[in-house]
Amino acid sequence: MAKPQLRYVCQSCGSVAPKWMGQCPDCGEWNTLQQEATASVTPFAQKHSLKAGGRVLQMQPLDALIELPKRLPTGFAELDRALGGGLVPGSAVLIGGDPGIGKSTLLLQAAGRMARAGHKVAYVSGEEAADQVRLRARRLGLSDAPVQLAAATSVRDILTTLSAGDAPTLLVIDSIQTMHSDQLEGAPGTVSQVRAASLELISWAKTSGTALILVGHVTKDGQIAGPRVLEHMVDAVLYFEGEGRHQYRVLRAVKNRFGGTDEIGVFAMESDGLAEVLNPSSLFLTQRDKAVAGAVVFPALEGTRPVLVELQALTVRLPSGATPRRAVVGWDSSRLAMILAVLEARAGLGFGGAEVYLNVAGGMRVVDPAADLAVAAALVSALLDLPVPGDALAFGEIALSGEVRPTAHPALRLKEAEKLGFARALVPPGVSGVGALKVSPVASVAALVDRIKSGA
Ligand code: TYD
Ligand code: MG
Repeated sequence: MAKPQLRYVCQSCGSVAPKWMGQCPDCGEWNTLQQEATASVTPFAQKHSLKAGGRVLQMQPLDALIELPKRLPTGFAELDRALGGGLVPGSAVLIGGDPGIGKSTLLLQAAGRMARAGHKVAYVSGEEAADQVRLRARRLGLSDAPVQLAAATSVRDILTTLSAGDAPTLLVIDSIQTMHSDQLEGAPGTVSQVRAASLELISWAKTSGTALILVGHVTKDGQIAGPRVLEHMVDAVLYFEGEGRHQYRVLRAVKNRFGGTDEIGVFAMESDGLAEVLNPSSLFLTQRDKAVAGAVVFPALEGTRPVLVELQALTVRLPSGATPRRAVVGWDSSRLAMILAVLEARAGLGFGGAEVYLNVAGGMRVVDPAADLAVAAALVSALLDLPVPGDALAFGEIALSGEVRPTAHPALRLKEAEKLGFARALVPPGVSGVGALKVSPVASVAALVDRIKSGA
């Protein structure tokens, strides 16, 4: 056997380098390269050398009849929605998210609900002892759910156990970073181990028809080998996000081989676990009794579902010479810098000497590009100390020229707003009103400033 060679694998993105470097040349993370041994000739290459001759493949036409994948409801309509209609048997789903966000809670609840519905469900925890999981189950009111529970980290033990009886309908592995494959040396959590353990679990799930859910932690500094190298291996990737201090959690699909990636599921973390939030708009809007300068409602579109959120801006004038801060929660900070620059260049509004804070209320993260106009309105309203009326909202994309551009699905956004009692909306030109809701077209950021000065 050839002498094992050393190589260095980035624990953040999985790229391989022949020598150690302080910074990964691919993803730019610092101190993430770790030494791993590799055999120079892999057993696979030995076994399948071309000289031995391959198997002749049966090529097939594109239009051969196929069955659409069957879907299994998880017992959580919001989880099913994010999955694109439920779990697909034999598929692998990765659920990523910060530690403590509620991944284990969500999956234990889903496992309990599926088990109660008569499915065989196995939940394997590598993070917590069986008693800890039982305690959590009791708190979630799931003690009587017939979930098969194990605390284990050896992939071989897990698969040996599961192969002995009927394969479960659902297998939850919490978390993939704690799993260990004996096909390979190295500590659990390294990129190679995460990859090897996942590969074994995924191929077992494919052959047994079990729906597999892998939990993966993401850390801000990318130190733990993680979900990013796994994303290519699984069929769907969902991220569970939220501001730790807030109750609300959003499950967002970032990859889905069997469905769309723009649907979200919304949950609230309560004392007895996660509850589904079927009407998210009412939840992200703070108490709106009286209009406050800097607060503007934005009808975001998450997949096919409109969600109204309140954007809040605050500007503070600083004595000249001081360096102003810019802080953003729930939105893209470089996009904020762009909107500030456009307001300055195209509408003559100077934010140069002012600190600027932008916050999306309720812990929601907005990714919809139509937020530009609402952000601009909040900033202008804050800077001029002129409130935008409480029954008004705004959406539209802003170009560098200062022009306000149309966005996707204006009618869907306005319908939701009308349902919640909004009476007027600042919109891109060409959008018509819905029912009792009147629109006020805004062609440019300069027009927006005039509109806010004249009371919107
Ligand atoms: P957990 O599911 O353990 O997070 P993760 O698996 O993503 O690391 O959730 C941990 C947090 O959720 C913890 O801070 C306590 C809180 N929590 C509740 O508020 N209510 C509950 O019923 C449960 C089980 C947890
Ligand atoms: Mg957990």
